[in-house]
Amino acid sequence: MSALWSGRFEKDMDELVKKFNASIDFDQRLYNEDIDGSIAHVTMLAERGIVTEEERDEIIKGLEGIRQEIAESMKEGEEGKSPLLSYEDEDIHMAVESRLIQLIGDTGKKLHTARSRNDQVQVDCRLYMQKQIAEIAAVLAELETIILKKAEEYVDTLMPGFTHIQHAQPITVGFYFMAYFQMFKRDLQRLRDCYDRMDYSPLGSCAMAGTTFDIDRHMTAELLGFSGPTENAMDSVSDRDYMIEFLSAASISMMHISRWAEEITWWNSSEFSYLDIEDSYCTGSSIMPQKKNPDIGELLRGKTGRVYGDLMALLTVMKGTPLSFNKDFQEDKERIFDAVDTWKASAAILAKMIENMEFRKEVLEAQLMKGFLNATDVAEHLARMGIPFREAHEIVGRMVKLCEDLERQEGRPFGLEDLQDNHLQEIDDRLTKELLGDISIPACVEARNSYGGTSPKEVMRQIEEGASWLQDFANR
Ligand code: ARG
Repeated sequence: MSALWSGRFEKDMDELVKKFNASIDFDQRLYNEDIDGSIAHVTMLAERGIVTEEERDEIIKGLEGIRQEIAESMKEGEEGKSPLLSYEDEDIHMAVESRLIQLIGDTGKKLHTARSRNDQVQVDCRLYMQKQIAEIAAVLAELETIILKKAEEYVDTLMPGFTHIQHAQPITVGFYFMAYFQMFKRDLQRLRDCYDRMDYSPLGSCAMAGTTFDIDRHMTAELLGFSGPTENAMDSVSDRDYMIEFLSAASISMMHISRWAEEITWWNSSEFSYLDIEDSYCTGSSIMPQKKNPDIGELLRGKTGRVYGDLMALLTVMKGTPLSFNKDFQEDKERIFDAVDTWKASAAILAKMIENMEFRKEVLEAQLMKGFLNATDVAEHLARMGIPFREAHEIVGRMVKLCEDLERQEGRPFGLEDLQDNHLQEIDDRLTKELLGDISIPACVEARNSYGGTSPKEVMRQIEEGASWLQDFANR
């Protein structure tokens, strides 16, 4: 079978070249969008009198038949692969068009009037990606819903907060959950931005410079649900920014997933034991009978590398390409498909894992006694009592030092709240236990009610605010 473009060729393609050149193996994923694009195109051609209404109807009927045929055949073969399509077809655009000509004859040859595969592939990719963005956003929104539920469940469960992997200040587990809520909220916003920016139809840009036919690009844009046509044909066939933007958004979101997976993996270890990952999200060891490994957390971390790779690959493919279309661009789709699949699956798995994980309150509670978590609170309290903050900082530093000395001498833990008047006066004669007031961890957390702070009351506000944002997002 010779290619649809074979007119000026005397020799058939080399078999190796044919395979190397073909994208059908992966771009068949776009068959639905390709057919949608063709139907919009031929509808417009008829409207403009470029084909007749009978020809339009015949072509649309043929295309719908092909859609059925491919969908049916995909059920037989390997997942997402149609046994009807082979590298002989080169790509999905050629495959559909040549099948159309086979089915309806010469009328089928009119479909490709006033378009090129260069604009066609861009239409397919944008339509496909917009669908996928909606699906990924739904998964992230579900993750956010679970985070909100968990944050409420743990709104007043205390735990140590870290900086530099060292105990820093006491927080609540609910507060911790809400930090991740913010990250995935930004991911959702990035997805929406990216969706909006790609919401323009390249159809009718043709090979690179538009066409001499009197086409209506506004009409095809509208038929396909885009907010309008793209502005410049040369840019339209060579722009892959929207894909790179998507891959950047995917990479950032995977980075969030990976950070969380890293923490969960550590916190599930016997060293921490802060939390329990449910059995169904763990695996055993083939040799060590006692093991319950957090493989899924690790795999989420690992998958992130893969998505970064997708981003780097496409940035690198694009960097040396002159205007306008170049075949290099064919390398874009596998990166997009890979990132779509990986991101969607990772977010869904993370959501389930989070939903089914339990924090161990007793372990967290025991940790609160370590690392002088209330030191900043004491300094802030002294400052409120009139001692300048820098001086208060210095005083509390000396209190910490004294606790450490006492701990060594007496062989038992010593917290700031354990210091008695005689200890305190050794440090500064203004200090008394009474002056320090309630410096217990729950009291300290309770008092951190500045906007965005960790107090349960403030975290409840963050949860309500988050829930209402999520609601608005879903309603748009
Ligand atoms: N299969 C190509 C791709 O994946 C479609 C565009 C081909 N255009 C061309 N002039 N060779 O990007």
